[in-house]
Amino acid sequence: MAVKRIALLGATGSIGRQAIEVVERNPELELCALASGSSDVTELARAHGVAHTQVGGDLTDLLETARPDVVLNAIVGFAGVGATLWALERGVTLALANKESLVAAGELALAAKERGGGLLLPVDSEHSALHQCLEGREPASVHSLVLTASGGPFRGRSRDELEGVTVDDALAHPTWNMGPKITVDSATLANKGLELIEAHFLFGVPYDRIEIVIHPTSTVHSLVRFRDGAALAHLGYPEMTVPISYALTYPERAATDVPQLDLAGGLTLEFAAPDLETFPLLALARRAGEAGGTYPAVLNAANEVAVAAFLDGRLPFLGIAEVVESALEAVDGAPAQDLAALIEADAEARRLAGRGVPVA
Ligand SMILES: NC(=O)c1ccc[n+]([C@@H]2O[C@H](COP(=O)([O-])OP(=O)(O)OC[C@H]3O[C@@H](n4cnc5c(N)ncnc54)[C@H](OP(=O)(O)O)[C@@H]3O)[C@@H](O)[C@H]2O)c1
Repeated sequence: MAVKRIALLGATGSIGRQAIEVVERNPELELCALASGSSDVTELARAHGVAHTQVGGDLTDLLETARPDVVLNAIVGFAGVGATLWALERGVTLALANKESLVAAGELALAAKERGGGLLLPVDSEHSALHQCLEGREPASVHSLVLTASGGPFRGRSRDELEGVTVDDALAHPTWNMGPKITVDSATLANKGLELIEAHFLFGVPYDRIEIVIHPTSTVHSLVRFRDGAALAHLGYPEMTVPISYALTYPERAATDVPQLDLAGGLTLEFAAPDLETFPLLALARRAGEAGGTYPAVLNAANEVAVAAFLDGRLPFLGIAEVVESALEAVDGAPAQDLAALIEADAEARRLAGRGVPVA
């Protein structure tokens, strides 16, 4: 079998480091390019014999030169949008962890995928689960999608109880070990809101047929309900190695070192409705997704600004949703016809969100 050459973007992050372990285990995978935002990747490149590297900036030249078979986009935030569109436009397989790019540029990404004709494989665990449950099914047989959410570290708390929570409290995720931005997004439930929009674009299912349920142990990664009353679920331990390996070795599904589920040891599967009053970002995301145009891009940009300010100690936890809501109210959400218009909408949302955030 030919070796798959992988461009790993966001190589120094949580997903990036786990992806390197997956590549090291699989002789049929090879790294051909590495990129980070500001961390030095020289040592990493030397250790893996990678000739093409870049730190920050436009990744187009890197990708054009490295000519990967697969782009694993594990960049955090809107910074990943260029690489997503690059891969989709050229029909290069895109293993997508960077959900923000699909949320912000969903329409442009789908048009690019249509032209490029390549594969778009989700790395987000819930979407990888949905991809696997949906594969080979007739779209008409699908009733709805169910995304599970752990509920984050503040599950069960009231709004009042979230008044004084600290960055450390928000970063103490109960089930997943991830980078700081997505961990805060999990605490506000913005992450599930972004995933709702991501699922809409990935699977072409309308918002009113995508349900979110709280499932504290993250054992069921997501479910698909079918019109005959059956529901197919994807189960496993909360380990990103599995969806990363699935996307990189698709369709072979290579072995990993993740243990099999211990069923006889006792497995409790509990589900509950999310608390939309305490975690308003989930409802805001659904509204932004349904409104379409650049509303999802604005939601994403304002959230990035607000989360960075929270992590920086400049904004209280409850201020994150307030900043996002104000930004959404201030824009007209007109669709972006091209990447330049989308970048402008993103920048405008950042300006608006910045007004709601105290300067250091
Ligand atoms: N972590 C998870 O388990 C998980 C699960 C599902 C989905 N995801 C998604 O995967 C993405 C990455 O998450 P993460 O948790 O791995 O984040 P992370 O640990 O913060 O890592 C982010 C990576 O992106 C790089 N980066 C930032 N800006 C960049 C730029 N302008 N150009 C190139 N690289 C840039 C960072 O480089 P520096 O080191 O130089 O800053 C770092 O390598 C996010 O979209 C997240 O939502 C993550």
